Amino acid sequence: MAAAITEGGSIAGIQLATSWPGYVGTRKFVGNDPGSVIEDARALVEQLGPDGSAAIINAFHEASDVAIGHGYRHVQLHGAHGYLLSLLIDSRINSRSEETLDRLSLLAERLATARVETSLRISLLTGYAAFDAAGAKRFQDSVAALPFDFIDLSSGFYNIDKRLIYPSRPDVIALRHSMSINVARRHPDRKFILSGRAVNAASEALPDNLHLGLCRDLIANPLFLAQPEQGCENRSKCHYFSRREGSLRCARWGDGGNASTLPLGAM
Ligand SMILES: Cc1cc2nc3c(=O)[nH]c(=O)nc-3n(C[C@H](O)[C@H](O)[C@H](O)COP(=O)(O)O)c2cc1C
Repeated sequence: MAAAITEGGSIAGIQLATSWPGYVGTRKFVGNDPGSVIEDARALVEQLGPDGSAAIINAFHEASDVAIGHGYRHVQLHGAHGYLLSLLIDSRINSRSEETLDRLSLLAERLATARVETSLRISLLTGYAAFDAAGAKRFQDSVAALPFDFIDLSSGFYNIDKRLIYPSRPDVIALRHSMSINVARRHPDRKFILSGRAVNAASEALPDNLHLGLCRDLIANPLFLAQPEQGCENRSKCHYFSRREGSLRCARWGDGGNASTLPLGAM
């Protein structure tokens, strides 16, 4: 894949993520008990301890090396959506988050030395209002200080509120955009990625250090950049796990959304 992407003229990038043994993703878009998701997360990182969290970052080192060996030239660490790294980097969940942030700095610096572009994806909010009410800005700023080339601003924890991850409602999209713009303005010397119906934000006055990230529009139409009028229609078929289906589909693909009906050359 890396070779094909590189041959196509792009930097081949890969996202590295981990959860933990026994992790179960909910099928629901909004979880029943956000308080217990946070409490369980705190207990998990406590149980992991300093050696356990150091081992996780070491595993990200190893995984980065495997990716580089296969030709990837951009490595993104998934520190968002309630997966393990997102718990380890947030002082509201992990009392030893500083140690993880320091280890991540070293990883970012090592990859920079190897001339590999880096990014860290975070969630601006979890979706649990009582948790998000305090400390979100401090968390965002602590991550923005790390030496990754980009901080990719997502939102939501998978087992708390998926609507924040894949925003569709205008108010949720507007909040994601305004929070992303605020973070970018607070750190004008750092580079960020805005996602969540990002093309809707393109006409707004975006800071120069805020770059656009696209997902569902490109699932709907791999040629979306050349055909911006033919993007995602918000029909939700791509949420295959939540829909108890086995593979990705899109209403735009025709014939019930089978990838095999995509026009030749469009993949
Ligand atoms: C089918 C699907 C799979 C996704 N998988 C991931 C993933 O593995 N990691 C991640 O950080 N975000 C994932 N996302 C979230 C997207 O990266 C993106 O942030 C989100 O869809 C909002 O952007 P959009 O409006 O451009 O789609 C996924 C989204 C969809 C629809």
